[in-house]
Amino acid sequence: MKNYTHINDIDNIYSWITEAKEIKSNPLKNKKLGTDKTLGLLFFNASLRTRLSTQKAALNLGMNTIVMNVTEDSWGIEFEDGAVMNGTTAEHIKEAAAVISQYCNVIAVRAFPSLTDKEKDEKETVLNAFLKHATVPIINMESATGHPLQGLTDAITIAEYSLKKRPKVVLSWAPHVKALPHAVANSFVQTMQKMDVDFIIANPDGYNLNKQITKNCMVTNNQQEAFKNADFIYAKNWSSYDDYGSITQKYDDWKITKQKIGNAKFMHCLPVRRNVVVEDAVLDSKNSLVIKQANNRTFAVQLVLKKILETL
Ligand code: CP
Repeated sequence: MKNYTHINDIDNIYSWITEAKEIKSNPLKNKKLGTDKTLGLLFFNASLRTRLSTQKAALNLGMNTIVMNVTEDSWGIEFEDGAVMNGTTAEHIKEAAAVISQYCNVIAVRAFPSLTDKEKDEKETVLNAFLKHATVPIINMESATGHPLQGLTDAITIAEYSLKKRPKVVLSWAPHVKALPHAVANSFVQTMQKMDVDFIIANPDGYNLNKQITKNCMVTNNQQEAFKNADFIYAKNWSSYDDYGSITQKYDDWKITKQKIGNAKFMHCLPVRRNVVVEDAVLDSKNSLVIKQANNRTFAVQLVLKKILETL
């Protein structure tokens, strides 16, 4: 595999899940595969899980890692072709990506959307610039429109904890205090479309995701109805897609409660704002998978790194 930037880079989700579970049962099996190889992790935005699990996975494979908070530690990077760089940016992506490619065998990038310019965000300016100008494989650690490492993690987690051949999975919008990206929700939808699950999305009116992504999915504005007989409830906030980036109403009554979820397993990508998105009683219950889900981040990215290293 050359790059991992989208859920569609997964050719067979079930064989990937099987392989990820094998890695989980013996994470140091391929300890020599990454010897003398370096992974560069470039963060344009904050992270806890992605940052640590990706380094952990690289170490499990014997790789070295270099981490940079681009917006704090480096020169401001210019992404526009032909720009007259007489403003705040000091280095063009053409040089930056080419130079980093000489230090690293694989580059992983996290770059969130602006949530103010839909067209620009959907062009995936940062991720695509690295794909264009770097000369080594690229891993998406969450871009403007997708978080495929999280999607793969979620597939592994559902496969591990499902008691049914075809579980019912609900992606539910949940309240938040600020406008959040669509990336996690988008990749979760794309992942569920690759799996044999009874899948439904519940969100308030005005919070439909990109219809190009949800076009084959059931979508409802009735959270209570969606939660009936659910095996997995995945909560996530996202800002409006149609009224791009806005949080038009708060819809606090969409908060996930113990009473609402019944016996369903609870999932969330984390970080989560307790008692805003979901009440303590859910997160602290045996039905919450969030910590186990976060653990699977390591094995998802380790599988991706393994597949890339095998081609180098
Ligand atoms: N779920 C996730 O990507 O977590 P971080 O933002 O902490 O990396």
